[in-house]
Amino acid sequence: MRPLKIAEGIYDVGVKDWNIRDFHGYSTYMGTTYNSFLIVDDDKVVLIDTVKEPFTHQFMENIRKVIDPKKIDLIISNHAEMDHSGALPRVLHLIGEETPVYCSKMGEKALSAHFNDKKINLHVVKPGTEMKLGKRTLSFIETRMLHWPDSMFTYLKEDGILFSSDAFGQHYASHENFDDEMGEGLFEHAKKYFANILLPFAPRVEKLLESIESMGLPLNMICPDHGILWRKNPEMILERYASWARQETKEKVIIVYDTMWNSTEKMARKIVDGARSTGVEVIPMSVRNWHRSDIMTELMDARALVLGSPTLNNGIFPTLCDVLAYMKGLKPQGKLGAAFGSYGWSGEAVKLLNKEFDTMGFERIDDGLRTLYVPDSEALQACYDYGVRIGEAVKAKS
Ligand code: FEO
Repeated sequence: MRPLKIAEGIYDVGVKDWNIRDFHGYSTYMGTTYNSFLIVDDDKVVLIDTVKEPFTHQFMENIRKVIDPKKIDLIISNHAEMDHSGALPRVLHLIGEETPVYCSKMGEKALSAHFNDKKINLHVVKPGTEMKLGKRTLSFIETRMLHWPDSMFTYLKEDGILFSSDAFGQHYASHENFDDEMGEGLFEHAKKYFANILLPFAPRVEKLLESIESMGLPLNMICPDHGILWRKNPEMILERYASWARQETKEKVIIVYDTMWNSTEKMARKIVDGARSTGVEVIPMSVRNWHRSDIMTELMDARALVLGSPTLNNGIFPTLCDVLAYMKGLKPQGKLGAAFGSYGWSGEAVKLLNKEFDTMGFERIDDGLRTLYVPDSEALQACYDYGVRIGEAVKAKS
């Protein structure tokens, strides 16, 4: 139900996108939301971020249920990506082209480049700048590269509300709106979001969390631009972010593979059994059935990545290449790597997978395991033993 009142005079006027299933390569099985916040104060009415362009009509209706949109005095753009800025030109057209839009220095560049045929009344806010709205005060926190150069947070001092743009969000549309209406499953959605959006910037997340702590800001609520709002205990999502940013792992192996004539699959099953016999957690992940973004979510706290590919045309099987291209961009760190696969004559795939581990800076357990055509009982025993070796390596690495 929108608009959603989140505090006196403060509303989420964003929209729920129940049907989106792909967000630039990230599977959004539960849809998403584009949250946008309206603050109605004595002197100023402020809108923080907008929504994706196709939802503009619904968005304006949500605002109208609270206030005449023409009463909006200014817009704050925490983030220029189109899921939060797409509706901006139309909103400005409806409420007045001269309405000021406040953003970061990089936001000025990004918004100008996105809407290059429109003159937007842009104003750069410096980090720490305060803006009085009447009873309330806003301030701005630069969060460059979390996850775009323009990204920033807006903090509402008197209410202790942090409007955190993409950070702490989840691609999750539901009839629930707040963390206290959800169970532990909410953190799985937040983890997937971190793994697929923020992981490349993990060191910056660590620094940002330190700097938020050092500011000593009271945090009664964290309101991201996607998904559920954190009001019960915002500290909990900060703690999870700290752990994910440190890329902490557990005794867990993921075995990501594809198969051509079932031989690499047979190898995978035995490696799973061997690794499992050592007591570590093992997740077999056929890339035909696991989406690349779910593989990334499971990889985040795994200590070892095991890749299995048959050799096809002297190379790695194409489905594995898709996962690897995506994975490399997200820069996971501190993992063990092991490769295996069946081959017919040249058998380059395992060697090429090893190169991929080297490129990602993973510590390889060895040079990998190959089987000619179909694994016989001896080869299957070697796969089981390989799994044991992988499990032991995971336990030995803290
Ligand atoms: Fe939700 Fe980076 O946009």
